[in-house]
Amino acid sequence: MEFSELIKKRRSCRAFKNTPVTQEQLQTIVEAGQWAPSPLNQQPFQFIAVTDQTVKAQIQKTGIEAKQTVVDNSGPAWVKKYPMNFVGECPLIIVVVYDPTKGGLGSYFEQPHGALQSTSACIQNMMLQAADLGLDSLWFTFFSPSVLKPVLDIPKELDVAGAIMIGKPAMEAKAPPRKPPKVHEDRFSTEAE
Ligand SMILES: Cc1cc2nc3c(=O)[nH]c(=O)nc-3n(C[C@H](O)[C@H](O)[C@H](O)COP(=O)(O)O)c2cc1C
Repeated sequence: MEFSELIKKRRSCRAFKNTPVTQEQLQTIVEAGQWAPSPLNQQPFQFIAVTDQTVKAQIQKTGIEAKQTVVDNSGPAWVKKYPMNFVGECPLIIVVVYDPTKGGLGSYFEQPHGALQSTSACIQNMMLQAADLGLDSLWFTFFSPSVLKPVLDIPKELDVAGAIMIGKPAMEAKAPPRKPPKVHEDRFSTEAE
């Protein structure tokens, strides 16, 4: 597939078939993640590949709790209808964690987020690789990290960038529209707004 076509074909999926993701596909996906750029090439990320039904159910529970917190605090009304069942149904969840201290030199000059920036690039690589393998994905963050970390034995010093759901889509999702790119010439200009 053409790269520009792949970028548009990658779709966030919230309904998965139970077809397993193979070990080979998993390896291909995490290797794509590992090739992301990172400050000083520190590669601050690690992966937890979750396929166990009990563990998936625990991740789903953290999602349900986070959703309830939003509802209890008068968050947006649509949240009540947000389905969490796909979390337990998704064949593979790759939880991506990172060491926030491995962000290169940025903390010396007001850029302390290098590790998260790099881990975000890693996740995008993984999702594009999954799309190239005919799999859909979802960058899922609807949980409280302090609740999820003990569930997965994640050490205190690591942060969670997301739980990446991966599998065959149960139905084709529509592409949410994109705004036209705002490109400023030479300097930022309010005319481009
Ligand atoms: C950092 C990040 C966190 C996200 N968290 C969630 C999430 O918790 N639940 C969800 O359903 N979608 C989540 N999304 C997916 C976005 O809703 C989705 O990317 C956006 O609507 C555009 O749709 P597309 O990915 O199909 O192009 C997240 C995306 C990003 C980049």
